[in-house]
Amino acid sequence: MEGKKQHVVLFPFMGQGHITPFLLLAELIHEYYPDYTITLVNTPLNIRNLQSSLPPGSKINLKSLPFDASSHGLPPDTENTKAIPFHLFINLFRASETLEPAFERLIAGITEEDGIPPLCIIADNFFSWTLHIARKFGVFHSTFLTSGAYGSALLFSLWKYLPHRNAYSDEFSLPDFPEIRLHHTQLSNILVVADGGDAWSVLLRRLNELCTRSDAVLVNTVKEFEARGLSMLREQLQGPIFPVGPLLCTSASHSMGMDLSDWLDSQPSASVLYVSFGSQNTIRASQMLKLAMALEATSRPFIWVIRPPVGFDVRVQFKSEWLPEGFEDRMRGTKQGFIVHQWAPQVEILSHPSTGAFLSHCGWNSVLESLVHGVPIIGWPLSAEQFYNSKFLMEEVGVCVEAARGNRESSEVKKEEVERAIEIVMDNEEIRRKAKETARVLKSALKEEENNTNVGSSLRGLK
Ligand code: UDX
Repeated sequence: MEGKKQHVVLFPFMGQGHITPFLLLAELIHEYYPDYTITLVNTPLNIRNLQSSLPPGSKINLKSLPFDASSHGLPPDTENTKAIPFHLFINLFRASETLEPAFERLIAGITEEDGIPPLCIIADNFFSWTLHIARKFGVFHSTFLTSGAYGSALLFSLWKYLPHRNAYSDEFSLPDFPEIRLHHTQLSNILVVADGGDAWSVLLRRLNELCTRSDAVLVNTVKEFEARGLSMLREQLQGPIFPVGPLLCTSASHSMGMDLSDWLDSQPSASVLYVSFGSQNTIRASQMLKLAMALEATSRPFIWVIRPPVGFDVRVQFKSEWLPEGFEDRMRGTKQGFIVHQWAPQVEILSHPSTGAFLSHCGWNSVLESLVHGVPIIGWPLSAEQFYNSKFLMEEVGVCVEAARGNRESSEVKKEEVERAIEIVMDNEEIRRKAKETARVLKSALKEEENNTNVGSSLRGLK
């Protein structure tokens, strides 16, 4: 193989929380192995969006595979969970499986062009079917988990044991982790329907089973931060596991408008609460009302990214009836709140010195982006492994207090509880100290001092 160029192919799932860390991983690999050819593969629309977010002079190749959303019951031009309502996620997953022949052709094309097969395929755990192609071409297969180790370990365990007969009972225990008992409201929508024969069960059990046979697993986390989660994950998977995080955007993908920037600059240090439920989840209209009332009652400054509530098309225009009467005018008048519609420059907001806490759904990228800036979290987990992320942050790290859980009809939200969680996190010195300490731990994992001394734990794994 000497003298031949080494090629690494990365293939993230079509969600913002997956594509961003994959791109950052691609850039990190390029930094340490500048002679390698690095190709990131996705569907046409996602690749087009990525083209505009690549740093100038980036050497990452972007390749798209043909994809037709509308032939899978998806709205046309929707290739990202960001633009798809939750009930259609299953269609996107099924549609993503039809990419297999095109991905195989891509690997065959690279093999022909380079004269040797790629060195490695790094695939999302939702694309673990790429293992078949890797085996066929004799390529090393790596899975990259963009979520944390603890949440991933628990999800692997959950989908192994079906049906989840006791998911409806008051307490639900996880097969491999009998010590963890969760109330049913801490389970995501797809989990409570999992009877073994439903579409999610069939799909995820197969994908997870393939994933356990991957040659190596990379995780967007840090050894010192998730020691227990990593050992739980080792019980679930066969290959060696390498924490490679925190892979985070350091610069903003969207620039902050002057209005928002001026408003943030005018607030006292660590006083602003940032509220966002990530790229693909939203809360119910009734919950939005309670949240608005709680925010107003605290009298604390806040930025709230509002996306349409559950049941509305994700792209629908903002409607003032989602909020209490006169809320927006009052917030504008008193300058207490800054409302952003659809999408905010999250990294810029979290890195601003005026930001004091983040009310978040606890998606893993949001968690890392917050903690790397020493910003503590008010948890409101909504789906997937977010319930476990929040649990881990509360019980193991001590940087989070939960305000509410879930967005199912049965998930009641009390204004007073949301208010209480906000007050605790904004005022508690110990939580703030722990968030700052966590920032130090996370940042040192990808640091390298001069002359290669003191190499961070994630970099050691990658090298
Ligand atoms: C999904 C899964 O649901 C979650 O369980 C998993 O941990 C990650 O992927 P998502 O909503 O994409 O959740 O959450 P998150 O991981 O937090 O990623 C959202 C990304 O979009 C972040 O990088 C965040 O900075 C960005 N974002 C989100 C913005 O820049 N602006 C916004 O307004 C909203």
